[in-house]
Amino acid sequence: MYIPHLEVSQVRNLKSLKTDCHPLANIIYGVNGSGKTSLLEAIYLLGRGRSFRHRDLRLVVNHQAEELVVSAKIEKGMPAKVHQMGVRRTSSGKFAARFDGKTLQSSVQLASELPLQLIDAHSFNLLEGGPSQRRQFLDWGVFHVEQTYGDVWKRFQKALKQRNQLLRHGRIEEESLSAWTAELVPLSEQVSRLRDKYLSGLVKHVREVARLFDGLGSLDIEYYQGWSAETALAEVMSGDKKRDFSVGTTSHGAHKADMRIKVDGVPASEGLSRGQTKLLVYALKLAQATYFRETTGDSCVFLLDDLPAELDVHHRQQVVACLYGLDCQFFVTGVDRSDFDVLVKDRPHQMFHVEHGAVTAG
Ligand SMILES: Nc1ncnc2c1ncn2[C@@H]1O[C@H](COP(=O)(O)OP(=O)(O)O)[C@@H](O)[C@H]1O
Ligand SMILES: [Mg+2]
Repeated sequence: MYIPHLEVSQVRNLKSLKTDCHPLANIIYGVNGSGKTSLLEAIYLLGRGRSFRHRDLRLVVNHQAEELVVSAKIEKGMPAKVHQMGVRRTSSGKFAARFDGKTLQSSVQLASELPLQLIDAHSFNLLEGGPSQRRQFLDWGVFHVEQTYGDVWKRFQKALKQRNQLLRHGRIEEESLSAWTAELVPLSEQVSRLRDKYLSGLVKHVREVARLFDGLGSLDIEYYQGWSAETALAEVMSGDKKRDFSVGTTSHGAHKADMRIKVDGVPASEGLSRGQTKLLVYALKLAQATYFRETTGDSCVFLLDDLPAELDVHHRQQVVACLYGLDCQFFVTGVDRSDFDVLVKDRPHQMFHVEHGAVTAG
């Protein structure tokens, strides 16, 4: 799967851009403030319906414009077929997404049409941040390999929200709480089983990718499902009732899941340098892409913001070699063109120069 053609209009300082893209390496270089990250943001917007920089999409629409539009041709499937995909966001808040002329109802549908992986300056939070970051990582993976997951996940979130609303309400009837608990338990278990199964399949790929990178020790990844593995969730929740009432929220379940990663026996959040942390994040995301390819036969698109600032030259080479090996299309940004010359020398690629929001190939 890749993007052969991209059009961006009024995304931050990118006023109007129409370009063909390379099926593998797209190198975007230019001085700070020229619009490189905005270009990745535009592609992300197309695949996720949101920005990775701000919650509020109004900030992403060019200050002088009423709306932004990102559209692209997407080539995928066997035999390969070209599809047309687009998103539009007005500064007053209206959002619309289309795929092959049909309106999409939610950004979840965008994600399944255009699987994206992003690595930027904040990605170390996958290891150093809270468990929700790691749940998101797992959910990306399960969502893209298990067709039923999107629906199960949505139903789970809804039941959890309802139960928490009841708990917060104060004076509630035991009966309605029990009804929501009975609804939530099997959904929580289902989400958990799918995540667990996914992680078991992923671990060997993480180890394999990590082995390609110098400087990462032996890896252990354990899944914590959000409640004790020895006790059935229904039993745990029945024991939690008093506590849930007093804290006004559901104490255990798949919404508390985490992925516990150790390097040479030490938790990754404690024992790694910032450089090693970043490297491990690359290993995790590249492993996801590998597993995705193995299970679906398809590739995802990588967005790598400011790669030269993130990794030393030796590890940059290893990451880029891995991306070529995966046959993934990638868009990578950096200030200096010369940083990339050595990385893609003798390999197929396309350079793009960004200057004051204008993008030129070459
Ligand atoms: N909504 C907006 N409208 C117009 N310009 C914007 C908007 N938001 C940010 N900018 C400007 O866009 C420029 C490009 O930013 P960015 O893509 O982060 O650059 P780079 O990644 O090349 O350093 C910046 O100069 C920033 O001030
Ligand atoms: Mg930038």
